[in-house]
Amino acid sequence: MGSALVGILQDRAAALAVQSGASLEIGGIAVSDLTRARAPHIPRDLLTADAAGLVADPSIDVVVELIGGMDPTEGLVRTALQLGKPVVTANKALLASPEGVALRSVAKEHGADLLYEAAVAGAIPLVRALRESLTGERIHRVMGIVNGTTNFILTKMGEQGADYTDVLAEAQALGLAERDPTADVEGFDAAAKAAILAGVAFGYDVAGTDVMREGITAIRAVDVEFAERLGYAVKPLAVVERAGDDALSVRVHPAMVPRSHPLAGVRNAFNAVFIEGEAAGELMLYGQGAGGRPTASAVVGDLIDAVRNRLAGTTAPSPDRQPARLLPEEDLQSQYYVSLDVTDRPGVLAAVTKVFGDNNVSIRSMEQEGYAGEARLLFVTHLAREGDVRSTIRELTGIDTVEQIGGVMRIVGGRE
Ligand SMILES: NC(=O)c1ccc[n+]([C@@H]2O[C@H](COP(=O)([O-])OP(=O)(O)OC[C@H]3O[C@@H](n4cnc5c(N)ncnc54)[C@H](OP(=O)(O)O)[C@@H]3O)[C@@H](O)[C@H]2O)c1
Repeated sequence: MGSALVGILQDRAAALAVQSGASLEIGGIAVSDLTRARAPHIPRDLLTADAAGLVADPSIDVVVELIGGMDPTEGLVRTALQLGKPVVTANKALLASPEGVALRSVAKEHGADLLYEAAVAGAIPLVRALRESLTGERIHRVMGIVNGTTNFILTKMGEQGADYTDVLAEAQALGLAERDPTADVEGFDAAAKAAILAGVAFGYDVAGTDVMREGITAIRAVDVEFAERLGYAVKPLAVVERAGDDALSVRVHPAMVPRSHPLAGVRNAFNAVFIEGEAAGELMLYGQGAGGRPTASAVVGDLIDAVRNRLAGTTAPSPDRQPARLLPEEDLQSQYYVSLDVTDRPGVLAAVTKVFGDNNVSIRSMEQEGYAGEARLLFVTHLAREGDVRSTIRELTGIDTVEQIGGVMRIVGGRE
């Protein structure tokens, strides 16, 4: 992405100077390997392997961190802030770590901006919208598709009826998934973004590791097909919502979203974030969540803000935050989809529905289809407690006529 940023800074130099009130000159570009081949527009004389030296250089006014990961970035960002230099970063892993959370205080202490629009949902102007336009709004819930890789995979599974592993291979061939896809498909990437959103939208400090996280690897093509048949799309969601007055539910998991919901129409690698506020009502921001140029566009916006603020002797608003009280997973309230393969014989349905009832899970609808002496039961519940659904599933696995628990998915965005 650094290469795309350099391209934009070169191509739009005159316009960016007007916008920021100063001409933006690239003072140096830190890389890890000076011998690596670079795009022709990268000025070779600006490259250095000494990132720390560049940060400390008194002629450098603003630092843009696009290295990624924790080391050496945490030290570099901290040093820059301690020197009073604004930092623009796209590093969600750093920002969602306890060390990253602490960097906000360092920034405040030294009167330097720490800006990170590009860290959540790429080109989508989300952080600034929450921090500034919606700053007076009481936000109830922010939920979105903030990982393009998993949205691409689930979209293709729905549209082509393809299996997870086949679509993952296609995504890797298209460069939409890493060779090691763990960070995306197990939800780590989205969890870091959810943690950042909890801070920006709700004013709570949350670490990415504390986010309830479930990946998409267990989703079967057949469950995506059933979901579609029941009127839902399966989407990879990050959800941050109020749970009472002083607690938040922060979570990342695949969910069934009603087809009528705006998030259900967000296809392929696109991202979108749906915000529900007390006075503003419902809003949705949509766009490209990754890729060099889209993400670099968000970095440029922050860079201009940082320069403007520095010239004006001010910083972007950064209200104090408190540690979050997170809703225990077991206490989450949601509707659920449960599919079961059972032996097709009299009394089975009654036995199964009794387990739901015994665990306080009320069934909203049930569909049954038979095949070769077995039947498949598809349940949609009313709002239920996650802990009660988990005990229902545990108990169902102990019934000998239940051949297999198929899929279990939360349903989000519906109206009960
Ligand atoms: N790409 C996206 O679509 C996207 C979207 C949103 C957020 N982000 C975030 O943006 C950051 C960068 O991602 P990316 O995809 O651009 O990564 P990338 O392609 O791997 O680029 C990382 C750059 O950092 C340099 N680097 C690595 N270690 C270094 C060190 N110790 N000192 C100095 N330079 C070092 C690398 O140098 P060499 O060129 O010599 O290897 C490379 O130029 C990450 O935090 C990522 O999460 C990326």
